[in-house]
Amino acid sequence: MDKFIIRGGNPLVGTVRVSGAKNSALPAMAAAILTDEEITLENIPQVRDIETQRRLLASMGAVVARHEGDAQDHVTINCCSLSDPVARYEIVKTMRASSLVLGPLIARAGMARVAMPGGCAIGGRPIDLHIKGLEKMGAVIVQEHGYLEARVDSGVGRLRGAHIVFDRITVTGTEDLLMAAVLAEGDTLLENCAREPEVVDLAALLTAMGAKIQGAGTSTINVHGVAKLHGACYRINPDRIEAGTLLIAGAITGGDLTVANCNPDHLGAVISKLQECGARVDVLGPDAVRVYGDGRLRAADISTEEYPGFPTDMQAQYMALATQAEGVSLVRENIFENRFMHVQELVRMGANIKVDGNTATVRGPAPLSSAAVMCSDLRASASLVLAALVADGESVIDRVYHMDRGYEHIEDKLRSVGAQIQRLGNVFAPRLENPPTADHPA
Ligand code: EPU
Repeated sequence: MDKFIIRGGNPLVGTVRVSGAKNSALPAMAAAILTDEEITLENIPQVRDIETQRRLLASMGAVVARHEGDAQDHVTINCCSLSDPVARYEIVKTMRASSLVLGPLIARAGMARVAMPGGCAIGGRPIDLHIKGLEKMGAVIVQEHGYLEARVDSGVGRLRGAHIVFDRITVTGTEDLLMAAVLAEGDTLLENCAREPEVVDLAALLTAMGAKIQGAGTSTINVHGVAKLHGACYRINPDRIEAGTLLIAGAITGGDLTVANCNPDHLGAVISKLQECGARVDVLGPDAVRVYGDGRLRAADISTEEYPGFPTDMQAQYMALATQAEGVSLVRENIFENRFMHVQELVRMGANIKVDGNTATVRGPAPLSSAAVMCSDLRASASLVLAALVADGESVIDRVYHMDRGYEHIEDKLRSVGAQIQRLGNVFAPRLENPPTADHPA
């Protein structure tokens, strides 16, 4: 398994570009199921989760191709023949976001067979709200042998518009039901929706395909169902979590880093927290943010919330920063019940962190020393890389396949701005099979 060798101590200086958003690209690829015409998606990151989604669609009969080397790299997806509307456990178990195909499959094919995702490293993560919403739209769903067997109960094989109030805010739940609603008969009103930029990205793609949607980005979304969607070309937004991770890399190393090709409007909570910690952050325009300072940071508390609050996907990276800040930072995780797997590894590097329930108390600054540490999930692995960038000596970070799930060429990007980072093992090749692991949190 690949490892990173990181020698800490270099301030990161220069400009680094952010890739397309993994969590927008995954539902966008699932949305291709909704039409028999071709969908072209630009700015799709070359990360392992995208390759998993490609394999999932291909296993159902879709033709998915990445076109490289021309003016604009892009991915085309053609679902004109969906011979096998089944999401098999072998694929679903490696990536929870596979359940995003449930709504589109029922909407397009009138039936679906989707493996239930199992346990997850960061929390229980049921998909009961997806199921409840789809049932309200007329799907009959039974669970058998670890699979959800779904079909539409009406004679015409089409879902019906419905009024659905999510019991709690769910990102992929909102996306799944939005994709189901666009082809349903009649109007759907979705309330208590996720307002994440990734939902807005999906709604923009669906609109380009001919869907009638209002309110994406607010907690109430109205959908007027249409009988058919057509092909479209859509450019995925930049990855706000990668951008946030890179901003923290600049701040923690006391560097001067410009994070380019990002959307500063999506980074409000992270930027204001970095400023509260004493880092200097300038928004340079519509697509770039500069972070700089002398590396002297003050403690500040965070509490993870749904967008536009502080993202749970940035909690682990922020905790690495907090280990270097003067004073006591409280880190509260409110979205997932078990998202502190990075803590023990940070402690092994010398961090002073105590966990009590959903709150971690971080006392800093703690000098970090190099160690051999192990990644447990995607964002935890980013946190360990950040810690290693400021640790004294050479750290070995094992199981970086977790990082490869969501960060494109991260070692090249960090090296280009001065980090001493090397990969041991095979360079991640997107066509490789996923390694066998049990905990895949996307
Ligand atoms: N929940 C339920 N029932 C449901 C759905 C969700 O109880 O049917 C609960 C979850 O257990 C969790 C909370 O609601 O406690 C929020 O979960 P949500 O459904 O919003 O998470 P998700 O859609 O499964 C997406 C991202 C995650 C990100 C979360 C929260 C994708 C593909 N994944 O997951 O990204 O952490 O939203 O923002 O969009 C990552 O990229 O590392 C990652 C884990």
